[in-house]
Amino acid sequence: MIRRNIEIPIGVSDQKEEIVLSLPAYERNHCLITGSTGAGKTTLLKTIMESAVRRYDPSEVIIRTNVDELDDIKADGIFELIDQLHDEVYSRWVKLHKEKVSTYAESDVPLVLAVIEDLFYFCRSGEDDKRILEALGKTERILHMSHVVGLSLICTCRMLSLERFYLLFPRISELFNIRIFMGEYCEDVYENLGIGPSELSAAGIDLAKRRHTGDFIIHNRHQTDSLQAGHVFYTI
Ligand SMILES: Nc1ncnc2c1ncn2[C@@H]1O[C@H](COP(=O)(O)OP(=O)(O)OP(=O)(O)O)[C@@H](O)[C@H]1O
Ligand SMILES: [Mg+2]
Repeated sequence: MIRRNIEIPIGVSDQKEEIVLSLPAYERNHCLITGSTGAGKTTLLKTIMESAVRRYDPSEVIIRTNVDELDDIKADGIFELIDQLHDEVYSRWVKLHKEKVSTYAESDVPLVLAVIEDLFYFCRSGEDDKRILEALGKTERILHMSHVVGLSLICTCRMLSLERFYLLFPRISELFNIRIFMGEYCEDVYENLGIGPSELSAAGIDLAKRRHTGDFIIHNRHQTDSLQAGHVFYTI
């Protein structure tokens, strides 16, 4: 079978064109959404999820998420989700092996869309370091195996978590090949948080150069009078 890219509408641009998040079928396809508090990360995450459910049948896309806990994110919820995804990656790998195909692209299993609110929250949750490192190790393996087994992580990350996780595990940021930065880079705000262009850039968010194709900055207008896709309005 020939896989199509998964195309998820997320809003409309100033030119009234639909903005689509495109997840390539044959490559790694993880998305990291960051930006300051109130910039609209959670809103975008919900939009992506609603839009994916509306557009794709469960035979094509299935969703795993921790967004039920949005109002009270518990580190435990994230640890459990990471454990579950890690198990799913390995059970899929075994299944594909039994079917004698080498990648998900050659099978008929649906893409798993793991929609995760504040993925790296657990890094600053006061948990013991052993547990954090174990979860980060699993996260890294999940991110690595994704295009083989058909799993895409769509995550938000607060700036503070981003800084903390970068210190702990810089390699992970390289595994997100779609990076969305909500809002404009505002030097004062991030300098106060101790996050400057170099930290952002080290975490893979290079605002000046935008060297990775697929990176984009969304200027969120917080308007509600637009298209079907979650009633959001963005410009890029
Ligand atoms: N495109 C949009 N259209 C309408 N309302 C929006 C839009 N984006 C954000 N909002 C509203 O702005 C507020 C802040 O958005 P949101 O909670 O998504 O920000 P956040 O980046 O997740 O913040 P935090 O870091 O504090 O979690 C919410 O009340 C949300 O409903
Ligand atoms: Mg939020």
